[in-house]
Amino acid sequence: MSTFHALRVASVDRLTDDSVALTIAVPPELRSLYGYAPGQHIALRRHRGEGADGSAGADSGSAAYTGSEVRRTYSLCAPSSDAPETLRVGIRGIEGGDFSTYAVKELAPGDTVDVLPPAGRFVLEPRPGHFAAVVGGSGITPVLSIAATLLAREPESRFCLIRSDRSTASTMFLEEVADLKDRFPHRFQLVTVLSREEQQSGLPSGRLDTERLRQLLPALLPVEEIAGWYLCGPLGLVEGASRAMRELGVPRGRIHQEIFHVTDAPAAPAGEAARAPGAGADGAAAARAAAVTATLDGRSGSWPMNEGESVLETVLRHRADAPFACKGGVCGTCRVRLVSGDVHMERNYALEEDELEAGYVLACQSRPLTSAVEVDFDG
Ligand code: FES
Repeated sequence: MSTFHALRVASVDRLTDDSVALTIAVPPELRSLYGYAPGQHIALRRHRGEGADGSAGADSGSAAYTGSEVRRTYSLCAPSSDAPETLRVGIRGIEGGDFSTYAVKELAPGDTVDVLPPAGRFVLEPRPGHFAAVVGGSGITPVLSIAATLLAREPESRFCLIRSDRSTASTMFLEEVADLKDRFPHRFQLVTVLSREEQQSGLPSGRLDTERLRQLLPALLPVEEIAGWYLCGPLGLVEGASRAMRELGVPRGRIHQEIFHVTDAPAAPAGEAARAPGAGADGAAAARAAAVTATLDGRSGSWPMNEGESVLETVLRHRADAPFACKGGVCGTCRVRLVSGDVHMERNYALEEDELEAGYVLACQSRPLTSAVEVDFDG
């Protein structure tokens, strides 16, 4: 599950000046392993200093630990498949972004990239009902897969997409979204809000903040009938949209969110959402002498933690195959079940309330609050 495979780039299609859609070929023997649900993502890995042929394809997480590799997760944008022939992701180049710059400027058909099998719980399995999404920028990527899969497979479904971007020129997947409108004119509703462009159509412009959404949503949709809301984009947009939903009385369980670009975000406030259930208050003293036991791919080990290490960092020193991508509490790739002991999570933008209640934590964000902590990567 946590193994990278070196896969061949089939095509690189330019979407905007600063973004591409990367299509990666999956060989027949790996297709069932790379099957994915609508909304999931893949982690891509690049070894620093590696040539465009991606020749450093060894399956080792240790290089990341020493800073010689970079991993990023990207959402799959094509309709879901149990055995895909290709994987397609949208990548926007971000300033200073090591992998995204490489992908947008250098990657070419025929190159190889290291790819982890799909993961993630920002998923909508097709079912009857009316669904909606609020997305910003590259947040369209997983929602494109979600909407296309839902509308094609479930005739009793409807989908409303509210997307915001800076300008038409910077908007990713314009054609694919227009295609959904053509194919499903009565079941797909599209609202585009551009922040830096006056629209001739009379559609809204400006920023999609909490107040704006609180007014806009009831005018667009029967808010109380929406079976699931999918929020995806930069931290500010997702938090603002989530606040608007709650002010409109949307139950927490119907709101699903995925955040992009939080490298400059403050750590999530310590509290219920950031702490494993039942966490004690004896943290600091326990942390100094903590040991971690981890099960990964059916094998277990116990190791002392160095001061200041996260659970993931300790495990990676001994098990280079431990899964991770962002190390920032965003992607959820390092999700583990806390079997015993307590931890404090510094940030959590990946796990939903029900996962926290079920005892899941993010290994990359977990610091021990007890002298022994046991986690299960397989559970
Ligand atoms: S590695 Fe992304 S949340 Fe831990």
